[in-house]
Amino acid sequence: MAVTLTPDLPLLLLLLGTLLLLAAAPAPSAAEKFVVGDKKNWAPNVNYTTWPDQYRFHVGDWLQFNYARGGMYDVVQVANEAAYEKCDPTNPVVSYDRGRGYVFQLNHTGRYYFICSRGYCWGGMKVTVLVEDRPARPPYAAAPAPNAAAHHAGVASWALAAAAASLCAAVLGLPFAV
Ligand SMILES: *[C@@H]1O[C@H](CO)[C@@H](O)[C@H](O)[C@H]1NC(C)=O
Ligand SMILES: *[C@@H]1O[C@H](CO)[C@@H](O)[C@H](O)[C@H]1NC(C)=O
Repeated sequence: MAVTLTPDLPLLLLLLGTLLLLAAAPAPSAAEKFVVGDKKNWAPNVNYTTWPDQYRFHVGDWLQFNYARGGMYDVVQVANEAAYEKCDPTNPVVSYDRGRGYVFQLNHTGRYYFICSRGYCWGGMKVTVLVEDRPARPPYAAAPAPNAAAHHAGVASWALAAAAASLCAAVLGLPFAV
C-alpha cells in the first residue's frame, strides 16, 4: 500500500522527536536559584515578608539579589533575628554592594537573615529564609539499585514513544510500529 505523506506528518514527527528528547533529558540539576522578590527584585518599598512562603529552600540553593546599579542598595547578611528585627547592619556576616546584584549560596541548614543596610530595611527591604536539608533522593526513587534510574528513564522513553506513535497512527491512520 502506498503511503501518501500529508503536510501534517513532518509536524507530527517533530513532535515525536521533541517528546523523545524530553524523555531522554537528564533530571534538572538539584540546586535551584531563586531571584529574591521575583520580578520586583531587591528594591526599596517592597515587603518581602511573604515572598519566601511560596518556596522551599535547600542546602546548595542560591539566592540571587538583583538591585539597581549606583551604590544605593546593598545586601547584608546579619547573624540573628535580633539584628534582623532592628535593621542593624553592624557585625554583618556578609556585606555586598557592588555591581547590580549578588548571588548567595545557602550553604547550611537553618535560618538566614538579609537586610539592606541603607535605611530601606525599615520599609521592608529585608528577607529571611529557612534552609532545609536537601532530600537524599526524589521520593519516587526510594532505594534504587544502581541501574534502576536509567532503567526507569528507558521505560519512560519507550512509553512516550509508544504513546506518540499511537497518536501519529490515530491521527494519520498510519501503521506505526515501535
Ligand atoms: C559556600 O561554600 C562554597 C564551597 O565551600 C564556598 O566557595 C562559598 O563561598 C560558600 N558561600 C557562602 C555564601 O558562604
Ligand atoms: C510586611 O507585611 C507583613 C504581613 O503582611 C506585616 O506584618 C509587616 O508589618 C509588613 N512590613 C512592613 C515594613 O510594612
